[in-house]
Amino acid sequence: MKKIIATVSFLSIAFIAPAHADGMLDMAKQKQCLSCHSVDKDMVGPSFKNIANRFRGLNNAQTMLQEVVMKGSSGATVHWGATKMPPSSARVELAEVEAMMLVQWILATK
Ligand code: HEC
Repeated sequence: MKKIIATVSFLSIAFIAPAHADGMLDMAKQKQCLSCHSVDKDMVGPSFKNIANRFRGLNNAQTMLQEVVMKGSSGATVHWGATKMPPSSARVELAEVEAMMLVQWILATK
């Protein structure tokens, strides 16, 4: 399983960001991320740009943020203020691999 995730992860780094950045924006829209986030403006949640600037390069950023995207934030993962991110499963069907792709794309935001 780890191997599959690593392979998919490599492929998505190579092919999805940046070549399919528009596709990722569509996915973010479809998964309702954009009702609270925007690429470059803070809304209910922080902008993807600010998230990238804060966590890019940190060792466990990918895994930690995937966890937040799936399960929402609470306690130590409330990083941005009082408002918590609710679990995605409360709104949409979100597969691990989709959360992984979204987080990779977010971390690549310039
Ligand atoms: C109902 C509003 C809402 C929706 C929908 C939403 N988010 Fe969030 N998101 C937030 C808030 C609020 C925060 C800041 C939470 C905090 O400080 O813990 C946040 C934080 C984040 C973070 C940073 C987490 C951290 O630990 O710093 C990421 C990454 C993220 N969202 C991605 C997504 C993705 C991807 C989607 C779509 C699958 C999504 N969000 C949908 C409100 C939302």
